[in-house]
Amino acid sequence: MANKPTKMATLTIEGVADPIELPILSGSLGPDVIDVSKLTSQGYFTYDPGFVSTAACDSEITYIDGDQGILLHRGYPIGELAEKSDYLELCYLLLNGELPNASDKKEFVETIKNHTMVHEQLRHFFQGFRRDAHPMSIMCGVTGALSAFYHDSLDIDDAEHRKVTTHRLIAKMPTLAAMTYKHTKGHPFVYPRNDLSYAENFLHMMFATPCEEYKVSPTIAKAMDRIFLLHADHEQNASTSTVRLAGSTGANPFACIAAGIAALWGPAHGGANEAVLNMLDEIGTVDNIDKYIKKAKDKDDPFRIMGFGHRVYKNYDPRATVMQQTCREVLAELGVENNPTLQMAQRLEKIALEDEYFVSKRLYPNVDFYSGIILKAIGIPPEMFTVIFATGRTPGWIAHWNEMISAPYKIGRPRQLYKGYAQRDFVELAKR
Ligand code: CMC
Repeated sequence: MANKPTKMATLTIEGVADPIELPILSGSLGPDVIDVSKLTSQGYFTYDPGFVSTAACDSEITYIDGDQGILLHRGYPIGELAEKSDYLELCYLLLNGELPNASDKKEFVETIKNHTMVHEQLRHFFQGFRRDAHPMSIMCGVTGALSAFYHDSLDIDDAEHRKVTTHRLIAKMPTLAAMTYKHTKGHPFVYPRNDLSYAENFLHMMFATPCEEYKVSPTIAKAMDRIFLLHADHEQNASTSTVRLAGSTGANPFACIAAGIAALWGPAHGGANEAVLNMLDEIGTVDNIDKYIKKAKDKDDPFRIMGFGHRVYKNYDPRATVMQQTCREVLAELGVENNPTLQMAQRLEKIALEDEYFVSKRLYPNVDFYSGIILKAIGIPPEMFTVIFATGRTPGWIAHWNEMISAPYKIGRPRQLYKGYAQRDFVELAKR
């Protein structure tokens, strides 16, 4: 959608006679942006490591107001979606822009169910991974490998191809995630069951065995659905931007999503949920919390309170509020309200929220602070947490990829402030 400038900014450069006029664009919500795209023709680039002040695209999918702690998907607040909707409905909303009516929803759910199996040959890929491989390493590999199986739908310029790929990815991610878990356990893979809901089916593939059926508790299934829902999209975060960047080259969508999974893996992003549990284990007891808070505040110590802080939220992450509530529900259902990890997390949260360092830097719990406690209580091991995040985030990645591909786009190609050597003469090996 073409943006019309609402006003102009003037850039005056010392020693340059003519000022440069830059259009200012307004979105439907959020700060105005200064369009610097023509600056290169004037001989300048902008400099913004970490994209702290850079809007890399326009988008209609998700809006975050970090100061107010607001997250809207297609205009709907996340709290309301978590309460009144479900994961597949949100997938539909992210992909199509509107909530489905009853028949659209039924059709969408059926379509996703029709794609839950993966090609039988894909099983062999798993055998190539060591049993102790990190599940995210397997997910990067097998998701990218899907592109070797679906040559019938890799034309990114064909809307029908994009649609079927979208359905395949949303349907197959839980199957791949559960297969990854089973591989690391040395258990046989469990086939999907299409009489179950999305979340129930995932739990079934994770925990059933050929010798024992897994009885899915409605509270646990609801919590699982909610975890997927809360992770579904988060505008231009590192992994989504990675998917867009990879997609801007014309790469196939399976390869782009594999790139997104790789970007998500890091502890500053999706890897934080695993890191929270590892941190709570390391802290060990409530008595040690003060020591660790001190470490987090020490500039010379790299330790950070994992699950705290966010590039955009300078307020409570609204997803963390829902996650905390879900955490209580799950632990009550499992009869482990006095879970020591939860107690320590709550104590740590309280101390950090009152501490001048965290208050002044506006560091609040983020989505990852409580999700790990729920997942662990359900019986999912910490090394699988980021895989769950990746599964939930898949519709967001695809919605952004689709949004970009469906309109005119350019290859993503940032520039740099070069600080290396100027041209110099080559020195022959014998003379070095
Ligand atoms: N514990 C202690 N200090 C912190 C923390 C923390 N968790 N987070 C930020 N700070 C400090 C940081 O040291 C810096 O201090 P100073 O201004 O004195 O140098 C200041 O707060 C600003 O931090 P920053 O690293 O410049 O901020 P950023 O926007 O670049 O990083 C972040 C955001 C999420 C990477 C960071 O807050 C962090 O590392 N948090 C822990 C990891 C985590 O929970 N990540 C999950 C994010 S939510 C899930 C997702 O969407 O991926």
